[in-house]
Amino acid sequence: MDVDQDIAHGAAERAKFREMKDGTAQDWAVIGGQYRAFAKGLPDRVLTHLKILDGDFGGFPVHRLEHSLQTATRAHRDGRGEDYVVMALLHDIGDTLGSYNHPDVAAAIIKPFVSEELHWICQHHGAFQGYYFWHYIGMDKDARDEFRGSPYFDACAEFCEKYDQAAFDPDYDSEPLEFFEPMVRRVMAKPLPAAMSVAAE
Ligand SMILES: [Fe+2]
Ligand SMILES: [Fe+2]
Repeated sequence: MDVDQDIAHGAAERAKFREMKDGTAQDWAVIGGQYRAFAKGLPDRVLTHLKILDGDFGGFPVHRLEHSLQTATRAHRDGRGEDYVVMALLHDIGDTLGSYNHPDVAAAIIKPFVSEELHWICQHHGAFQGYYFWHYIGMDKDARDEFRGSPYFDACAEFCEKYDQAAFDPDYDSEPLEFFEPMVRRVMAKPLPAAMSVAAE
C-alpha cells in the first residue's frame, strides 16, 4: 500500500498529542508530511461534491448540475479562460450546504485559485441574479445597486446576463462534467502566490 492509500485508510503515522498544546515538532512533521497528499485530492473532493447537484431540480427547468455545466459551457464557448470557466462551473456548488448563502460557499472554495475579480463575481452573483427574479418574490430586484461602487460590478452583471441567468435551457447541448475535469484539476493544482502569503500570515 502506498503512502496516499495509507493516508486515505487512516493507516499512516499519526501525531501523538491528545491536546494540541502538547504537540511537538515531530508531531507536526508527521502532519505536515501528509498535508500535501491530502491537498492534492481537493479537485476530486470538489468534483464529487458537485455531482450531488445531479437530478436536483428544485422546481427549475433544469437540475442544478445541468445548470452548472450549462453556465460553464456558455462561458467556455464565449472564449473565457479556464479560471473563469471553473468559477462558472462551481458557482452554485454551495447550494447543498449553503441554502441561505450559497455564493459564499463556492467563493470560499475557489478563493485560493482565482483572481480577486473572479472571486468577487462568485461571491456576489446571488444578488446580481436577483435582478432577474427578486421582484417576483417580494424582494428588491435592484439590490445589486449597493455594489455600484465596486470595480467588479460590470463583470458580475455580465457573468449573470450572459451565462448564469441564461443557463436554464433543457435543450442546450452542455458539455459533460468530464470535459471540465482537467480544467478543475489545472486551476486547483496550486494556490496563487497571493493566497499562499495570506495563508502564512
Ligand atoms: Fe447561484
Ligand atoms: Fe447559477
